[in-house]
Amino acid sequence: MDAALRSLLDWYAEMGVDVPKVPEPRPIRAKRTAFKPPAQAVSPEADPSVPQIDLSKVKTLEALRETLNGFDAGALSDGARQAVFSRGNPDADLMVIGEAPGRDEDIQGKPFVGQAGQLLDRMLGAIALGSEDFYVTNVVNWRPPRNRDPKPEDIEICRPFLEKHIDLARPKVLLLVGGVSMTALTGLTGIMKNHGQWQEVSIAGKAYPALPLYHPAFLLRRPELKKDAWRDLLSLRETLLSL
Ligand code: URA
Repeated sequence: MDAALRSLLDWYAEMGVDVPKVPEPRPIRAKRTAFKPPAQAVSPEADPSVPQIDLSKVKTLEALRETLNGFDAGALSDGARQAVFSRGNPDADLMVIGEAPGRDEDIQGKPFVGQAGQLLDRMLGAIALGSEDFYVTNVVNWRPPRNRDPKPEDIEICRPFLEKHIDLARPKVLLLVGGVSMTALTGLTGIMKNHGQWQEVSIAGKAYPALPLYHPAFLLRRPELKKDAWRDLLSLRETLLSL
């Protein structure tokens, strides 16, 4: 048995459910331009202490990382140890977009390195994706103060970096991990009803197939939902294989 299949079966056994039939890949639904929140929901303009950022001259991921590291995001960056940019292979077909750094990510400066990240890696390993097969970032680049949920203004402060990040990495597929990521990029709300439904997100004139997936931290609290996550992962695998 190869390692990928072993990893898949181990993860599935952990879920305690029978292996379901491989579903037909679901069709891509709506075509979506990168979601722009209504002006009144965007508060960087309302907060003069948060500088706006023009990233039009940033041409490489390394330059984007450096710009992020030097950016003053006000209370958001003041409360964090460091900016968290990415991990994984920037040339991979798959870009994974989570919510915001937690404590472990704030300490290590990389996304998804704590308990949720370990489950995320095992989930992707179950569809035979190793660390060279995906690239990981978050919607919000700093750990929110006291680990609170990201606020809409945190997301808007970080949005130029996220869109530039996607535009420079140019993945073939986006995996939107959790409701915050899904809402930030599609405008959809409700991960329970939208997980596993392919969307199309347009950024800088390029359309990306995007799959919302349950957040691994949510699955750690609600393990009975892992079987749904498994179906979604199989759909992701089908799409990646069809590229
Ligand atoms: N949860 C996320 O969404 N991202 C991280 O980097 C860590 C936990």
